[in-house]
Parts: sequence; C-alpha cells; structure tokens
Amino acid sequence: MGNKVIINGDVTQGIINKNIYGHFAEHLGRCIYEGIWVGEDSPIPNTKGIRNDVLKALKEVNIPVLRWPGGCFADEYHWKDGVGPHEDRKRMVNTHWGGVVENNHFGTHEFMLLCELLETEPYICGNVGSGTVQEMSEWVEYMTFNGESPMAKWREENGQEESWALKYFGVGNENWGCGGNMRPEYYADLYRRFQTYVRNYGDNKIYKIAGGANVDDYNWTEVLMREAAPLMDGLSLHYYTVPGDFWLGKGSATNFTEDEWAITMQKALHIDTLITKHGTIMDNYDPEKRVGMIVDEWGTWFDVEPGTNPGFLYQQNTIRDALVAGISLNIFNDHCDRVQMANIAQTVNVLQAMVLTDNDKMILTPTYHVFEMYKVHQDAEKLAIDIDVDSIQSGDYSFPQVSASASKAKDGSINISLCNLDKDKEAAFDMDLRGINLKEVSGRILSANEMNARNTFEEPENVKPGEFTGFEAKRNVLDIKLPPMSVVVLNITE
Ligand code: AHR
Repeated sequence: MGNKVIINGDVTQGIINKNIYGHFAEHLGRCIYEGIWVGEDSPIPNTKGIRNDVLKALKEVNIPVLRWPGGCFADEYHWKDGVGPHEDRKRMVNTHWGGVVENNHFGTHEFMLLCELLETEPYICGNVGSGTVQEMSEWVEYMTFNGESPMAKWREENGQEESWALKYFGVGNENWGCGGNMRPEYYADLYRRFQTYVRNYGDNKIYKIAGGANVDDYNWTEVLMREAAPLMDGLSLHYYTVPGDFWLGKGSATNFTEDEWAITMQKALHIDTLITKHGTIMDNYDPEKRVGMIVDEWGTWFDVEPGTNPGFLYQQNTIRDALVAGISLNIFNDHCDRVQMANIAQTVNVLQAMVLTDNDKMILTPTYHVFEMYKVHQDAEKLAIDIDVDSIQSGDYSFPQVSASASKAKDGSINISLCNLDKDKEAAFDMDLRGINLKEVSGRILSANEMNARNTFEEPENVKPGEFTGFEAKRNVLDIKLPPMSVVVLNITE
C-alpha cells in the first residue's frame, strides 16, 4: 500500500514543449464549418468569418499549435480549390466524412487568419495519398516564398502580399489507412521523395513530420526510422481511447457503465506503453532524440450522439473525458524528452472537443477546462516526480489511482497536476516537496458527483473548475485529499 508522492523541486528533466498542448481541426462534421467558420455574412458575431465566441474561448487555453486540414481529409484535399474569391471556389464532396458538400470557403488564407487571431503556430498536413509532389511543393511555395514566383504572385493576387511563416508541415496522414493504404516500405520511399520538394524559402525553416504508426504498429516505426530518419524532424503516432470495439460499438459518450469507466481509464493509460515502445525503436536510430515523436491525433472516440450524422463524429464530453485529458497530458509531460508535440482530436464539435456549438450558442467542455488548468505546464521545466500510490481493482481492470506531473514555470513557481482516477474513492496521500522552500500553495479542481456529468446548452456550467482546498501543509509535506474523479492543479510559490 503506497500513499506518497515525491516532487523533486531541484531535479529538472528537460522542457515540456508547449506544443504538447496542441490541437487538431479537420474538415469533418461541424468542426470547421459552423464550429469555427460561419462566414462574414453570418448573424453569428465573427471576425472576417471566424466566430468570435469560439475564438475568445480558444484564446484562453493558449493553443500553441493547430493542425489542419486533416486527418483523412488532408489526403483528399487539393489546396488550390480553397484559394481565391469564395464564389469561384470549387464545390467538392467530402467523401470521407459524411459525403457532404465542401464549398472550400475555409482554405489556406482563412486558416492562416485563424492562427494569427489565436496566436498559434500553423501545422499543415499535405496530401500524399491523392496529391502530387508538384501540388505539395507549390503549396509550400505559395505560403512561404517571398519574391518573384508563380505561386507568390498568385498569393499576392489573392490578397496576401507577405508570405506566412510556416514551421510545421506533415507529409501525409495515416498513410497506412485512409491516406493511401500503403505498406511502410512504400510510404517511406514516398516520404523521401515528397519531402525533398518541401523547400525552405528564405528564413522559413520547415519542421518536416512523417506520417507515423497507428497504435502498436511497431514495424511501421521501425521501417520509417530505418529508411528515412535523417530526412525527418518528427514522426507521428495516433492513438484514440476507445472503450468498446472500434467497428462493432465504441460505447456511448454519456450513457456508460462502471466497467466502461474503468476500461476507459486503463486504455487512456496505455499511451504510456505505446510511447515507451515506439520511443525505444526511435532511440535505436536516433539516440540523441533529434526526431520528435508527434502524437498528432489522440483523445476519446465514442459512438456519435444519437440522431447525429454518423460521419460527423459529434460526441458529448463528460468528467470521464476530463480524466482522459489529464492522464494523457501528464504522460506526454513525462515523455517530454521524445514527445515534442501532441494534438487532441478535435478542437470543436468533433470527438474530444474543447467547445460544442449549437447555432449561435457555445459551451465549454470538461476537457476544455483541463487544457485551461494545465496551460501552466507549457514550456515549463519538468520536475522529477516519484508516485507510490494504491492501485484500483475495478472488475477485471486494474490501474494506479493517481496520475501526476510537476513542472517549474519561468516565473519560478511550481505547478503540479493530479488526477484521481477512482470514481468512488478519495485519494489521500502525502506529497513530499523535496528541495522546495514552500511559501504558498493554492489549487484549482475540476470534479463532479456523477461519472457522466457534463455541460449542456441548458446547463453550461455544470462542470467547471473551482478552488481546491483539500490540502494541509506540514512543513514541506502536503497532506492531500483528492475527491473521486477529480483533476487538480496546485500552484506552489517558494
Ligand atoms: O480524427 C478523426 C480521424 O481519425 C482522422 O481524420 C484520421 O486521421 C483518424 O483516423
């Protein structure tokens, strides 16, 4: 029986890249259209077509990097259809997501505007599956070349004189599946070829991200690292927490059993094993850890809300999602030597969203609040932490009751994020603050009384952060009591 957490205030273990707190927005369901883009003529208040309420909410969580336009959509997207006057843009079918009409009104210029308004780095995913090398190369030229060239000229004609700064570029998405059903050997060769023409123009230096493995496809990572590691800066990994069976029934987002709570926790924790194992393969080829692991799709994936388009992936979000977010972010922090970016799927109205919209209404989800509370870890120094707490046995499932992460911010304060994964029992333990001259402690908590507690358009503030008072300081030890199913962030000043 363990009941101790030790924070080693004087043992730092590298920087937690702020991009671990990144996001992903795809042309899928109501994420881009309705969720972000409403158009300038909409009665919904907007800035050049981008809705103001969503902008304001997202600004609060400090999104460091935003991945776009997909996902599976990326390998069907032809960027030239999405520039120029809106009325002239090609209307196409979004074959992968619901077969709806894509009017291409949200394209490169609109995405760059969104990033500018959010003060976030754009991360663009190019089309390998159904695109050409020339098309990808010209997109990079269009966005980043300043000077005389056909693409730069076209960009200027379309209203953008200065090139944009673009750092992150993905060479395809899920090329083992919707991005072309390729074998790793074939994709590795295509990656080598396509990335050659992703040029650095002027001062713009692109961080090239190769399409990585699905879940535990270690062979994919092995082949990509073996064949192309020197030509990449990052290699992606995708993992979704699905309590049920992906094809036969994932489980409801809101109407779930105690067993489903437990399996969700256990599956969320599994990403630790995946990062460790993929990371070990990467270490063999890249012991200096130059190539970042880019977890550019993660989060919960449940059955869609009853009555909604199955191709839109719209799901509600409960305190269970908040726990998955808290656990996953703690794990990414812990692996900050290799994990350089992570992008939760997806920002608005799709999968584990930050915000949900209904016409002119918008609500914040429990996951949103976790990102807002955890933003203190962005670019902070990771502190060594030892966790020795009880494990929970719930039916057939067993997992540690507490997940935690600690970091030291630039202002010298220490932030500790803690999750109690048990939906019934309080987690009581001592927290030993070694090498820390404790002066003041304060905390915030996100919790609920029911495992499926959520915010709705009728009750938008059902789940929201409050002050955390469940601690008592005895010299350099905090006696902590975390309520069941809670996410807490403590702030300590020395
Ligand atoms: O996020 C939804 C989809 O999940 C993405 O489009 C795809 O890359 C993944 O399979």
